[in-house]
Amino acid sequence: MHLEGKAGIVTGAGRGIGREIALLMAKEGARVVVNDPGVGRGGEVTDEQPADAVLDEIAGAGGTAVANYSSVADYEAAGLMILQCTEAFGKIDFVVNVAGMLRERMIWNMSEDDFDAVIGVHLKGHWNMCHHAIKPMRAQRFGRIVNFSSDAFKGSVGQCNYAAAKAGIIGLTRSIARECGRYGITANAMCPLAATRMTADDAVIAGWKRRLDSGLLTQAEYDSRIAMPGPQYVAPIVAYLCTDSAREVNGQLFHAERARIHTYFYGEVSRSIHKYEDDGMFTIAELANTIPESLMAGVPNVAPAQDPEE
Ligand SMILES: NC(=O)c1ccc[n+]([C@@H]2O[C@H](COP(=O)([O-])OP(=O)(O)OC[C@H]3O[C@@H](n4cnc5c(N)ncnc54)[C@H](O)[C@@H]3O)[C@@H](O)[C@H]2O)c1
Repeated sequence: MHLEGKAGIVTGAGRGIGREIALLMAKEGARVVVNDPGVGRGGEVTDEQPADAVLDEIAGAGGTAVANYSSVADYEAAGLMILQCTEAFGKIDFVVNVAGMLRERMIWNMSEDDFDAVIGVHLKGHWNMCHHAIKPMRAQRFGRIVNFSSDAFKGSVGQCNYAAAKAGIIGLTRSIARECGRYGITANAMCPLAATRMTADDAVIAGWKRRLDSGLLTQAEYDSRIAMPGPQYVAPIVAYLCTDSAREVNGQLFHAERARIHTYFYGEVSRSIHKYEDDGMFTIAELANTIPESLMAGVPNVAPAQDPEE
């Protein structure tokens, strides 16, 4: 059992990837707070409580867990969730921030509420949980944070709110890693790909098809989205990152899909142009001449302009 004696929280653990992580971590000996308010795909309130079913599964397999039904977007409630863990289990060793929802619109159709709600659950929700959890982790000089970003950080059509939040989560995670590493706390981020209601229900697949037909997705992008693996494949790497043996893995960004895991470089220099100090600044004219054949040589426009009738 790789997590014997550990205790912590998995947010959004009632369904999808979070559920698989909570089940595996409990099986590996961890005591788990299973957080999920049971909201709909767009964050709307429902009368579902999927955390209860996960609790039953964990108990049925001989594990130990308690439920929490709060939203991670609520600052006070996030603080109380950490308190619930320390009161129930005597400590908090890990926080796995999986909670998430989507409000997909093109930027010109997106409401302020669509933007704020997605930033609130993903970026602010991550900050809320990390902010409260790191206080006791710092005191005990041990902690494991695993945050959930997404490949959408690269830019994603119809998801500018989500992509912005997920890119923000990478900056948050890397900052926590640098601030807290000295206290025995690690922070890493995952970009998963898995069939869940977020990615694989009928309406989602119909949306991908429309984007394929209108040229917003390539055939390869479409094919990879409709043939997704199950969420259980994401759980082992997350559980590993919470073990003692992952103590030197800090500030990293992983992608996990099927039995394939890779790391991303993020923010490394790819090409550069420069002048010697005495030659002064670039002029706009120099940049207009130089950039197409240096920094942008062979780099395509990600979405070239089209004729209105296309
Ligand atoms: N499935 C994928 O391919 C994929 C790809 C990239 C990123 N992700 C990220 O992985 C995470 C899990 O996604 P999933 O596919 O398992 O989705 P899912 O919809 O199956 O599960 C997400 C769970 O989070 C819960 N949740 C929503 N808002 C919450 C809140 N405010 N507080 C607490 N819980 C809340 C929901 O009730 C739901 O049970 C998300 O952060 C998502 O953005 C998933």
